[in-house]
Amino acid sequence: METVVSGIRPTGNLHLGNYFGAVNNFLKMQQDANCYFFVADYHSLTTHPHPDNLNASVKQVLAEYLACGLDPEISTLYIQSDLPETTELYLFLNMLSYVGELERSASFKEKIRKNPDNVNAGLLTYPVLMAADILIHRATKVPVGKDQEQHLEMTRNFAVRFNHLYGVEFFPEPVAYNFGVQLVKVPGLDGSGKMGKSEGEGNAIFLIDEDDVIKKKVMRAVTDVGPTGPNQQKPDAIENIFSLMRLVSSNDTIQHFEDSFNNCTIRYGDMKKQLAEDMNVFISPIREKIKLISADEKYLAKVVKAGADKAHENGRKTINEARKIIGIRSF
Ligand code: TRP
Repeated sequence: METVVSGIRPTGNLHLGNYFGAVNNFLKMQQDANCYFFVADYHSLTTHPHPDNLNASVKQVLAEYLACGLDPEISTLYIQSDLPETTELYLFLNMLSYVGELERSASFKEKIRKNPDNVNAGLLTYPVLMAADILIHRATKVPVGKDQEQHLEMTRNFAVRFNHLYGVEFFPEPVAYNFGVQLVKVPGLDGSGKMGKSEGEGNAIFLIDEDDVIKKKVMRAVTDVGPTGPNQQKPDAIENIFSLMRLVSSNDTIQHFEDSFNNCTIRYGDMKKQLAEDMNVFISPIREKIKLISADEKYLAKVVKAGADKAHENGRKTINEARKIIGIRSF
């Protein structure tokens, strides 16, 4: 079985776009591979979050992924900082990574462009820490989006360099996990591109959104005056509403609105009301589960402890061997 590592950044609440994208894929992946999922709290420190906020977001993201169905009985689910072996491997890999290649990384360049006042060394070595996350479990596969492909390539370079320098075949060269299906497109509510929290208030429907919040956001979604003739092509904003409906509504409902669009009797107010209802039916069980889990400190502590133990067992092995290879041996 393949070993997979995936890092989850604690950067806010999950929305439907995350659910039908990354989360859904994680749920499938955990059935097919030996998965290590961790909440990347060390990585968050590059932006100096307030300690209370950091702690709260780590808990929240954990509760949300658990509520969605990440199963700690099947996968290893842990907090990055509960596996400090990662930082030792990070140090070892830092000795093998070149300042030049780190400076050339696209994400580093973008980050210093956006935040010229906070160009810290942690930002520069972010890809090294990510490589340590992956190589600490000697993973062979990593589920990455486009924006993380370069980081994965750097991980392979560090792995190969380590093996070469010490004349060993210790670290595998991890490649992207292929889900074998096309990613589902989840548009936002503002009539433009995809659902995302940075696209502005009201563009995304979060898994913690209450019924009335969902309704308010959906009713404000961008539409137009309606079709002016039979069987027209749908404008982008309208196609978006249909796309969202295809995720949460029944086939009959979708067909009903397809027909009424085609014969020009459609009323977008009715369609949005229906969409809001169906979204709520879809989201409410997850939302209630998130509430239950995030209020259950005991359960969360148990999950995190079990995950840390499992991650530690494997991470410890890697570090012990790496130390030996490097020449850090006991007297
Ligand atoms: N850099 C990843 C992101 O921005 C998060 C991450 C950290 C990660 N370490 C990882 C992902 C290891 C996969 C494997 O989303």
